Amino acid sequence: MNWKEVPVAVTGGASFIGSHLVDKLCALGASVTVIDNLSSGTLENLAQSPKIDFVRLDLEYASISDIRKILRGNDIVFHLAAIHGGRGYIDSHPADVCSNFAIDHHVIESATMAGVENVVIASSACVYPPKLQSRYDTDYQLQESDTDSFHLDEPLSADLEYGWAKLMGEVQLNAFIKQYGLKGSSVRFVTAYGERENETHAIVALIHKANEKMNPYVIWGTGEQSRDFTYVSDIVDGTVLAAEKVRDGTSINLGTGKRFKLKEVASLVFDLMNFHPELAFDTSKPMGVVSRALDISRARELLGWEPKVSLREGLERTVKWYVRTHVPTGKVNEVLLMERQVAPTANPIFSSTSGAPMVQRGEN
Ligand SMILES: NC(=O)c1ccc[n+]([C@@H]2O[C@H](COP(=O)([O-])OP(=O)(O)OC[C@H]3O[C@@H](n4cnc5c(N)ncnc54)[C@H](O)[C@@H]3O)[C@@H](O)[C@H]2O)c1
Repeated sequence: MNWKEVPVAVTGGASFIGSHLVDKLCALGASVTVIDNLSSGTLENLAQSPKIDFVRLDLEYASISDIRKILRGNDIVFHLAAIHGGRGYIDSHPADVCSNFAIDHHVIESATMAGVENVVIASSACVYPPKLQSRYDTDYQLQESDTDSFHLDEPLSADLEYGWAKLMGEVQLNAFIKQYGLKGSSVRFVTAYGERENETHAIVALIHKANEKMNPYVIWGTGEQSRDFTYVSDIVDGTVLAAEKVRDGTSINLGTGKRFKLKEVASLVFDLMNFHPELAFDTSKPMGVVSRALDISRARELLGWEPKVSLREGLERTVKWYVRTHVPTGKVNEVLLMERQVAPTANPIFSSTSGAPMVQRGEN
């Protein structure tokens, strides 16, 4: 597909994954509008792509007609805006995470009304039944059919409110496809990591603690829990390919199919940072499902996609970035590990770099 000057909008484009997606779309030549309320995303994340249009908007509270106006004229919407964080955050903020039901509805309905051709939504491995991920001694890879958002007459089960909201996002997308002929796809990300991610997520939390020389070094849970850690550039490549190749609402796993225990990842981080502390395990902390990895055969088949970055290589890049951008304070910041939004924001509903008026939350 030729992306030159294709108008696209990225909701949540100032986020960790969103900003990498924006960088890639700009490099491909697309004409990009970012919509974000900067509640956890930052303008600094967008510094590498200065030519974008940026609209500061709260997609939970803005009216459908405001969102529709901004989306009109875009061929593709990549929908990544979400109340989201690592396990500690989603476990302790169940009500906040429910905002995602509203955010997804607003974006999907507005995109449909604006005549957008194609909506790609950021879904998650949290849409899968926790029961399939409850054993340490397993090599089971979750398949898209384990949670089929087209078959609403089948039992469904998802991981916490966050997983249910992601699943309902997929259900909503499919409903608009069925009724209004919208086109789109859902890409199911799993434990993404890389530069610009925050400390609520496992890998960046591990790096933060090592950067602060925590000793004894505390790992949340048993350390035996395993995940399919996927480097951000692979996630972004798969997302762009989904926009190019899939339009019937199909859900697609984007992972590596490999699983690593958290304590193995910690050990790689220690090697890279030349730090070898004593280990302690805190099983009172949230650790999520026991074991999770994705089957990626559908992504291979439909997208011709393959993850390229090994865990070691991705960790090297992430550690380098973290150490370069974070000056140690000598103390682990426990708030950073739990809260996606550390600095309070004004949380405006609407403002833009083009000087549009700012409307404070609740005024519309
Ligand atoms: N990071 C992962 O491992 C992972 C895994 C699975 C799925 N995802 C999904 O991928 C997407 C991006 O994830 P991320 O890790 O970059 O998250 P993030 O927290 O960095 O990004 C969320 C973005 O949405 C914006 N946002 C939140 N509420 C908003 C609102 N009401 N209006 C407008 N903007 C709002 C935030 O400011 C932020 O830029 C999210 O949808 C997330 O659920 C991420």
